[in-house]
Amino acid sequence: MLEGLKAVDSTNLPPEGDGTIRALSRIGYDLSDALADLIDNSIDAGASRAEITIYRSDDEVTSVTIADDGRGMSDAELRIGMQFAARTDHNPNDLGAFGLGLKSASFSQCETLTVISRKAGTTAAARWSVEQIGKDWKCELLESAASEAEFRRLCIPAKRPVTGTIVVWDRLTRLAVGSGDHDLDEFLANEVAIIEAHLGLVFHRFLTAGSLILTIVVKHERRSLALPRTVKPRDPFDYRRSGSEGWPKKLITELPGVGTLNMEAHIWPAGSLADGYLLGAKSGLRWQGFYFYRNHRIIQAGGWNGVVRNEPDNDLALARVSIELPPGGLEMNVQKSALQVTAAQEQAFLGAQGDGITFEEYLEEARKVCTSARRANKAPKNVPLVPGQGIPMPVRRTAQKILASSGPHQELDFVWQVLDQEELFRLDLAETRVLLNKNYRREILGEASASATDAPIIKILIFLLFKDDFERFRFSAKRNAYLKACNALLLEAIGI
Ligand SMILES: Nc1ncnc2c1ncn2[C@@H]1O[C@H](COP(=O)(O)OP(=O)(O)OP(=O)(O)O)[C@@H](O)[C@H]1O
Ligand SMILES: [Mg+2]
Repeated sequence: MLEGLKAVDSTNLPPEGDGTIRALSRIGYDLSDALADLIDNSIDAGASRAEITIYRSDDEVTSVTIADDGRGMSDAELRIGMQFAARTDHNPNDLGAFGLGLKSASFSQCETLTVISRKAGTTAAARWSVEQIGKDWKCELLESAASEAEFRRLCIPAKRPVTGTIVVWDRLTRLAVGSGDHDLDEFLANEVAIIEAHLGLVFHRFLTAGSLILTIVVKHERRSLALPRTVKPRDPFDYRRSGSEGWPKKLITELPGVGTLNMEAHIWPAGSLADGYLLGAKSGLRWQGFYFYRNHRIIQAGGWNGVVRNEPDNDLALARVSIELPPGGLEMNVQKSALQVTAAQEQAFLGAQGDGITFEEYLEEARKVCTSARRANKAPKNVPLVPGQGIPMPVRRTAQKILASSGPHQELDFVWQVLDQEELFRLDLAETRVLLNKNYRREILGEASASATDAPIIKILIFLLFKDDFERFRFSAKRNAYLKACNALLLEAIGI
């Protein structure tokens, strides 16, 4: 439009440091997103382990480190890596995209970022601080021998730390500082649970495949004992039986500007309390919608991107759709936590079809399953319940004879799974099974050894005590309180 206007001079206008860093620290990362961005880097570096360590004193979180055993960086690579919007060579399968994550995620949480990296027998280290950026964009390069010693001190415990990277956040700005010991304990317990839930979800495919082991540990400066917690995968599609027969179904759509998109439309069984359904929340309602994966990492978990109005929709509580993004993908935000979908793309999602159904028909079916389950809630199931998987076969046969006169019956399975600390067992109504807390298996078994049909007495007693609960669709507040009390008593009894 203004091609006719001729330049008479030019001036170099580098970004103003202070303002840039202030703006960057406010682009809306929360702690879990910021950590996920750093784990992306560890995965891109081929790490098989990554450990997040939160260092604390009595009343303060002092530092956070993220250590991995990936391929590390040479001195030259580290200099590029520290640069904002670094021009790095990514292949299409990488999680990194913008050359910014390390810096933007870190400065959303802290004022000093140090990176120590070891590769090919040498250690390189560099440090950014907000003051230096504000003054003259000078990144400090740190002495090698001392950095090597720090690397050994802070790296993931291994027989011989060969390569890897440690990102250190000092002078934290967002991690709340408690007023007393107790406050901080509570705050950290809560925060670690949120981080675990988020990372378990975002990286669930890597964690399930075993290609990444992710741990979180809180270290107190005066206490020596600090047990790392392993982040367990939270797969939003991990149900045993679909909520409707014949599902999930595959759908395909042509997305303007992107190309062909493969979708898988799922319907969860109603009333589930499975980890994969609740994803760390009290109810699964908010988790309905699209799950966008890019190179196996979740970019967006739930939400309909405007395709369904007035979300969350009570009747779509069971509807979840996994979508594989091509490497180019949709436009994602810098924090890689949401996608921008245009109006034309919204229409394309609505027009998706495949497996003899359309997207609209899928929504209809998901609504139907939800509403009929709500109605069925009032009518109890009438087939007798008998002990199933997890119980020795002779006991199961006897139970079928006594409780179901060898006629039609439904089986209640027993499964060991990691549950919350205050639970010894959980009744999973939707999947008709009892979950037993794997973390207490040793205490429950005593001298006996673990097997598929271990702890038969405790399992049968739980069966007898709670079998009638499986005629419900959900628990009343009173029943919930009773179940909590039972859990507390049993934990007390096994000495937890
Ligand atoms: N843990 C790590 N191990 C090895 N190299 C790393 C690590 N973290 C960062 N790097 C290097 O530093 C570069 C810059 O990282 P940064 O997270 O800022 O950007 P990115 O990963 O390229 O893209 P994005 O902004 O999407 O995260 C990476 O491309 C990588 O080469
Ligand atoms: Mg990155």
